[in-house]
Amino acid sequence: MSRPSVHRVADYDDLSRVAARVVAEAIRDMPTARILVATGATPMGAYRVLGKLTGAGEIDASGATVFQLDEYLGVGRNHRRSLGRWALETFVLPLSIDEGRFVRLPFDDAALTAYDRRIRDEGGYDLAILGIGENGHLGFNEPPTEADAPSRVVQLSAASRRSNARYWDPGAVVPERAVTVGLGPILRARRIVLLVSGARKRTILRRALFEPPTPDVPASLLQRAHDVLVVADRAAAPDATGREDHR
Ligand code: PGA
Repeated sequence: MSRPSVHRVADYDDLSRVAARVVAEAIRDMPTARILVATGATPMGAYRVLGKLTGAGEIDASGATVFQLDEYLGVGRNHRRSLGRWALETFVLPLSIDEGRFVRLPFDDAALTAYDRRIRDEGGYDLAILGIGENGHLGFNEPPTEADAPSRVVQLSAASRRSNARYWDPGAVVPERAVTVGLGPILRARRIVLLVSGARKRTILRRALFEPPTPDVPASLLQRAHDVLVVADRAAAPDATGREDHR
């Protein structure tokens, strides 16, 4: 167990450039990498940079396999708010990865158990690109989640549904249930990069990094993973002492 390393950058543009560089290096090191990919606002800048690097011929991700991190239940795969569609359109296709190399999550617990087993037998995830929820969730591993939680169907917390409502049309009902890759398979990923931006993430990031790991802050269990890099902008990142910085 080692503390996650924190790479503190000035702002969102820097975060996107640094995160893209980290992912590009991982793809160069592991051309057939199995990559678990988050959606959400935070990684979009990095994905745009990666798309440009791909267009410029500076990276070749065509041998990678991309895995969906989470999905709402009851939302078809072509629905505008499907998280799978979001990952496909912002990561898989811009990086010239064949759609056939994008692996979607199944929708029930029995199939998810078999899915976890298959991924584990194949060697697990090489790289997980993650964001953090204001409630400390990773994927839809809502608090409380134990470190060995498998991939499964989950009930979304009121906090997550409120927070995700910004991606839905006004008045639309955010689904109450979802599937997520479990914290167990996430924490076993060979490398993890967590992207964190903005003052609204500052408190939870400080708890995740500096308080004892607890299921009540699922992201704090990253302290038990072996290779974690947190890329955080100045608004989000506590300084090295764990105090919040208000600059
Ligand atoms: P965000 O979502 O990047 O849109 O803030 C992160 C999350 O809730 O996991």
